Amino acid sequence: MATHKLLLLPGDGIGTEVMAEVKRLIDWLNAQGIAHFETEDGLVGGASYDADKVAITDATMAKAHASDAVIFGAVGGSKWSAVPYEARPEAGLLRLRKDLGLFANLRPAVCYPALADSSSLKREVVEGLDIMIVRELTGGVYFGEPKTITDLGNGQKRAVDTQVYDSYEIDRIARVAFDLARKRGNKVTSMEKHNVMKSGVLWKEVVTEVHAKDYKDVQLEHQLADSGGMNLVKWPKQFDVIVTDNLFGDILSDIAAMLTGSLGMLPSASLGAVDAKTGKRKSMYEPVHGSAPDIAGKGLANPVAMLASFGMALRYSLDMGELADKLDAAIAAVLAKGLRTADIKSEGATVISTSQMGEAVLKEMQALHA
Ligand code: NAD
Ligand code: IPM
Ligand code: MN
Repeated sequence: MATHKLLLLPGDGIGTEVMAEVKRLIDWLNAQGIAHFETEDGLVGGASYDADKVAITDATMAKAHASDAVIFGAVGGSKWSAVPYEARPEAGLLRLRKDLGLFANLRPAVCYPALADSSSLKREVVEGLDIMIVRELTGGVYFGEPKTITDLGNGQKRAVDTQVYDSYEIDRIARVAFDLARKRGNKVTSMEKHNVMKSGVLWKEVVTEVHAKDYKDVQLEHQLADSGGMNLVKWPKQFDVIVTDNLFGDILSDIAAMLTGSLGMLPSASLGAVDAKTGKRKSMYEPVHGSAPDIAGKGLANPVAMLASFGMALRYSLDMGELADKLDAAIAAVLAKGLRTADIKSEGATVISTSQMGEAVLKEMQALHA
C-alpha cells in the first residue's frame, strides 16, 4: 500500500478544533489498514508568529514542498492585529499558495438534501444545488505590485493595491474550469468586470479564445461579477462551473457557502500545475472559512468543511476517489439523521459539538466499511 506524506497545518482559532477531527479519521484509516498516512504537524499563522515571529518558517515551507498534500485549517485573529503586515497570520497562507504555485482553487458548493432548509434562501432555490467555483489563486490584486501605503506629507495617506493578470494565468485557470465542466454539467460561466477593469477585458478575451480553440463542446457564458453575485442568490442552479479571479472568487465563494447552509460546509482544493515528469502536482486542502474567533474554543465549529477538504485531498491528490465518495456519503448520512452543529441547526435537529460531529462521521465511515 502506498504511503502518503501529509503536512497538517491546523493554524489558529477553530483551525485546531476542526483539524482534530481530520486526525481522528486519519488515525482510524491507518489503524484499519485502509490507507497509510505519514503525518507531520506544523505551525502557520498566529501560532507560527508566536513561536518564530513569522507567519510560516522556511523549514515548514520545505516540509510543505516535500509532502504529497498539505492539509490546512485556518489562520487569523484579533490577538495578532498589531503585528507587522508582513508577519500577519494571513501572510502564511498566502506564501503557501504562492510558493507552491497553487493557482487553481476549487470551491464546490453542494447543498446536501438534509440541509435544504438550513440556508437563508428558500428550499426550492437551493435544493439539489451543485456548483463549482474555480478561483484563480496566485495572481490579481492579492499579489500585484505596487502594494503600498504612502504618507503624502499633507496630512493625507495613499494606499495602492494593484490588479495584475498576464494572459497565461487566465489561460491556465480557464482550462481547469473547462476540464472540470466536461466531467459535470458542461457549462462554464466566467465572471469579471470588463466594463471597468482592463484586467477584466483581458480575462474575457483570453477565456473566449481558450474556449474557441479547445473547448467548443462546453457551453460558455460571461457575466459581470456584480450581477453574477446577484444571480448566485437569485437562482444559483443556473450555474455549473464559475471561473473568476482571486478577489471576486473570494467574495463569491463566501456567498455560495450560504446557499449550502453555512460557511462551515464549504471545502476547497488548491492545486498547482501537473509536473510533466512526475505527473504529480503540488496541492493544499483548506476549508473556505476562517478561524472564526467568535466561536473559537467553544466546541461550536462545524468540522464538515475541513473533513470534506480532506476528502478532496483523497480525490485530487492521493488517488483514493472511492474513499472520498465514502466520506461524502458518511457526511450526508450524519446530516440525514438530523445531527447538526449549531451553524446548521434546524427544527427537530439534534445540536452536537465539533467533536461529536467528527465522531458521528467516523461512525458512519465504520458502518460503510463493516
Ligand atoms: P470566518 O470565516 O472566520 O467567520 C465568519 C462567520 O462564519 C463567523 O460568524 C463564524 O463563526 C462563522 N463560521 C466560520 N467557520 C465556521 C465553522 N466551521 N462552523 C461554524 N461557523 C463558522 O471569517 P471572519 O470572521 O471574517 O475572519 C476571522 C479571521 O479568519 C480573520 O483573521 C480572517 O483573515 C481569517 N480568515 C482565514 C481564512 C483561512 O485561514 N483560510 C479564511 C477566511 C478568513
Ligand atoms: C480565503 C481567505 C483568505 C483569502 C485570507 C485569509 C487570506 O479569506 O481563503 O477565502 O482572502 O484568500
Ligand atoms: Mn475568503
